[in-house]
Amino acid sequence: MMKRFLITVAMLALASNVVAGGDPVAGKKKAALCIGCHGVDGNSANPDWPSLAGQGEGYLAKQITDFKTGARKDGTMNAMVGGLNDVDIANVAAFFASNKVKGGTASKDSLKLGQDIYRAGIASRGIAACASCHGPSGAGNPAAKFPALAGQHAKYTMKALKDFSLGTRSNDPSSMMRVVADKMKDSEMKAVAEYISGLH
Ligand code: HEC
Ligand code: HEC
Repeated sequence: MMKRFLITVAMLALASNVVAGGDPVAGKKKAALCIGCHGVDGNSANPDWPSLAGQGEGYLAKQITDFKTGARKDGTMNAMVGGLNDVDIANVAAFFASNKVKGGTASKDSLKLGQDIYRAGIASRGIAACASCHGPSGAGNPAAKFPALAGQHAKYTMKALKDFSLGTRSNDPSSMMRVVADKMKDSEMKAVAEYISGLH
């Protein structure tokens, strides 16, 4: 029993090594097509295009794979990643993960509400604290593939929350994000998205 358990753990460790083994130098070359929108160092200048700099490598590889298989639907992105094989995906993910996110500044008016939701959720309506999965500083949990959020464009974060609440984005394991976003009002999404953009 114990032996089988240890073998399973060893295999899991091996599998995660393979996933996290991307080569950022090779990835930079493959990212030539991507940097026009996502920025030369993964810090995008347009709020419609998410920044990828400093994002967890495992999360990035999952998203690129999900765009490729159609598990995550976006007209622009589905067309971008068809030419990438699994090695390319790991390398591109490693490249963007190796950069540093620049981040922005949150507007003052939504700060308090956004901060409350981020840190504590809204218990009376069963909305979990974002910090419990995405970390107190928004750094995410790379091993669990919970994405970093800190410094992301508020407009993109707002769209992601809206997509989860409508179910047009449904690639979250065990509906983890859909059950949260489904219960949120637009004004609450906006406030927390603003707060996140100023987190670092
Ligand atoms: C024409 C602009 C454009 C180009 C070029 C582009 N992207 Fe994107 N990318 C987007 C947009 C827009 C989204 C947000 C999609 C959505 O709303 O779900 C996105 C989302 C992503 C995400 C998800 C980020 C997250 O936080 O979940 C990843 C990863 C990504 N792109 C990687 C790439 C890679 C790798 C390439 C190059 C092969 C690339 N993109 C090229 C516009 C672009
Ligand atoms: C139970 C854990 C959990 C909680 C609580 C949670 N999230 Fe998430 N969140 C996730 C996971 C997992 C993903 C990635 C899903 C995937 O693989 O596409 C995610 C993705 C996201 C994304 C998309 C990021 C991107 O780059 O596209 C946003 C935005 C987000 N969460 C915001 C929030 C906010 C705001 C809250 C609090 C109101 C919250 N999350 C609470 C687990 C959680």
